[in-house]
Amino acid sequence: MSPTATAETLCGLFFWKELGPFNTQTGSTPHGQPPEDLPPQPASERERMNNETGTIERVVATRGLENVVAGRTKISYVDGTGGRLIYAGYEIRELAAHASFAEAVYLLWNGDLPTQAELDRFRTRLVAEMRLPSQVIEMIKLAPPSAHPMDLLRTAVSALGMYDPDADDRSDEACARKAVRLLAQTITLVADMHRVRNGLPVLSADTKLGFGANFLYMLRGRSPSEEERSAFELLLMLHLEHGLNASTFAARVTASTLSDMHAALTSGLGTLKGPLHGGANERAIDIFEQVDDIEAIESYIDGMLNAGQRIMGFGHRVYKTEDPRARLLRKHALHLCQRADLADLAARAERVEQLVMEKKGIYPNVDFYSGIVQHALGIPKPYFTAIFACARTAGWLAHIREQYADNRLIRPTSDYVGPWDRVAMPIGERS
Ligand code: CMC
Repeated sequence: MSPTATAETLCGLFFWKELGPFNTQTGSTPHGQPPEDLPPQPASERERMNNETGTIERVVATRGLENVVAGRTKISYVDGTGGRLIYAGYEIRELAAHASFAEAVYLLWNGDLPTQAELDRFRTRLVAEMRLPSQVIEMIKLAPPSAHPMDLLRTAVSALGMYDPDADDRSDEACARKAVRLLAQTITLVADMHRVRNGLPVLSADTKLGFGANFLYMLRGRSPSEEERSAFELLLMLHLEHGLNASTFAARVTASTLSDMHAALTSGLGTLKGPLHGGANERAIDIFEQVDDIEAIESYIDGMLNAGQRIMGFGHRVYKTEDPRARLLRKHALHLCQRADLADLAARAERVEQLVMEKKGIYPNVDFYSGIVQHALGIPKPYFTAIFACARTAGWLAHIREQYADNRLIRPTSDYVGPWDRVAMPIGERS
């Protein structure tokens, strides 16, 4: 029996369709009037009572869950119309101007920015955890050379759970220990992966360096210049956290089943890899590999748009104005390009931005400039998304702990649009 929709209204956060009066005795919709002494009652999880009209309405799915509020958080807020990103009450540009990545992580994990003494202790703990079980290094060596760094990262983070002494302990103390360990191990994994796969020795963290500088040092084998360090720190900070994006939602769904932290992070990593999410930063740079000549960019973009293709690194589900992360990173990207003898890349990037705005009215997102910054820092393209993942690991960890602290299983329902009342024929009688 297919419910009959008679009207569609926007009510709260859901689109509801009015189903008409409800029969509480048969429990079916939408047959007949309810008994006079009983108010109408919803029969299924797909129905809601509209108290104003006294009718039962059917909840209809919102494609892509756009604008659906699916949880409460103190961690961050994305203001899509104002073009603002807020971490625990601080606007991102405030933090970018006055704090490091490690300070921002401390903020999200503890609710407040650290004092110098707290930061020093936090950094010491992070650096101490920047090492991997030898079995995981062996696993990296055994992976096929063609494996994408994101696949290897996802598999290795999952494997780390089998070596973690706190793996199945969800107490607050154990989760705090695991959060530090997992953030430190994730960046170590990406740096070691790059070095092992290129036949280079893995490097131990340098206790004198901060988080971003250490990451670059362990990956590239040389300490960054001040300009490189500050651009990379900013890049990490801008990727740290972004509300209930797809990968964070995935991580929280896994955590809500009371599965372990490694499992929740693995869900986040698998989700981030997709080209519509974190995977866009690798593809955003393709255009510059394919078009050298600034004059040829317009016809290239026209070709993509006419073919119905998306320009990677542009557009956003929430931002209806400029992505504040792109605004902050643009300056560093263009500056680094000038220094790295990539002035031509900077000019082409500005041209792409101008053309996509002219033709589609769409702004670049953080991935457009993060690809350029990483390219200018000499990071190989297949590692771009994995580096995004390392920063976002800290955001996922904050969300996983917030979910554990006030958990209710995340289990939505769906709007069934398939057939009803079918009769199953024995296999020999099916055509
Ligand atoms: N290139 C060309 N057209 C676009 C693009 C784009 N990058 N983004 C959106 N549009 C158009 C789309 O074709 C549609 O046009 P029309 O109404 O004429 O059909 C309109 O804008 C709305 O698109 P939508 O798919 O309904 O928007 P959405 O909210 O589902 O998509 C998005 C958001 C990020 C998936 C999309 O903008 C996109 O595919 N961008 C490219 C991939 C990308 O850069 N992703 C990184 C996102 S930011 C980092 C992160 O959070 O991971």
